[in-house]
Amino acid sequence: MTFAATVLTLYPEMFPGPLGVSLAGRALDQGKWSLECVQIRDFAIDRHKTVDDTPAGGGAGMVLRVDVLAAAVDHALALHPDSPVLAMTPRGRPLSQERVRELAAGPGITVLCGRFEGFDERIFETRPVEEVSIGDIVLSGGEPAAIMLLDACIRLLPGVMGAPSSGTEESFENGLLEYPHYTRPVEWEGRTIPEVLRSGDHAKIAAWRKQRAEDDTRSRRPDLWERHADARDRPASGARRKTKDQGK
Ligand code: ADE
Repeated sequence: MTFAATVLTLYPEMFPGPLGVSLAGRALDQGKWSLECVQIRDFAIDRHKTVDDTPAGGGAGMVLRVDVLAAAVDHALALHPDSPVLAMTPRGRPLSQERVRELAAGPGITVLCGRFEGFDERIFETRPVEEVSIGDIVLSGGEPAAIMLLDACIRLLPGVMGAPSSGTEESFENGLLEYPHYTRPVEWEGRTIPEVLRSGDHAKIAAWRKQRAEDDTRSRRPDLWERHADARDRPASGARRKTKDQGK
């Protein structure tokens, strides 16, 4: 099944951009995913094709008009009624690998890209649009964020990635950062590949990797570590985990 990506944008020429090369580009050529860009300006209702206006209450920049956005979103929903619509905005919910996995398992996604100061809020009150942020940074528009989101989904599509395990062992899949990697030369500028990785002892290698994943997550991403530790200590039922002594 082809994963259908629909992008609502004022700059369709930005696509496929980086998604047209390497892994995603090959998958696009092979029909594993499809891309359709919709020009938001085509849904403007006035002679001048106006898509934005000054912010109510004053302030800098321009705001995308809700009537234009709604017409573009309705068009996309008519084309792909089962695809979720995601608006790229720094005000959105931070994107997670878990959400990416859910999206990649579906029929496709419609991505709404903003420019200027952002979207008239009423689009979110009246249409099923999920606000998504790719991090606590402000981009000049939603297009680079949409490319990131699409890239994350596409690499998970069946048959897109070479080694199937590389999609499940990597960072975030188990709530941890991934362990570090090494390859030849064994010695370089006086530094060697850790001995255990050259031992051929797969159990020891797995233990070393697990330890490094935990240590690195704890030191680099205390936020992730806390969540991981909480989830580990709390059983899914919400009941208190039995300690060794209580366990009988
Ligand atoms: N548009 C501008 N900044 C963004 C961000 N951080 N995430 C998603 N879309 C954006």
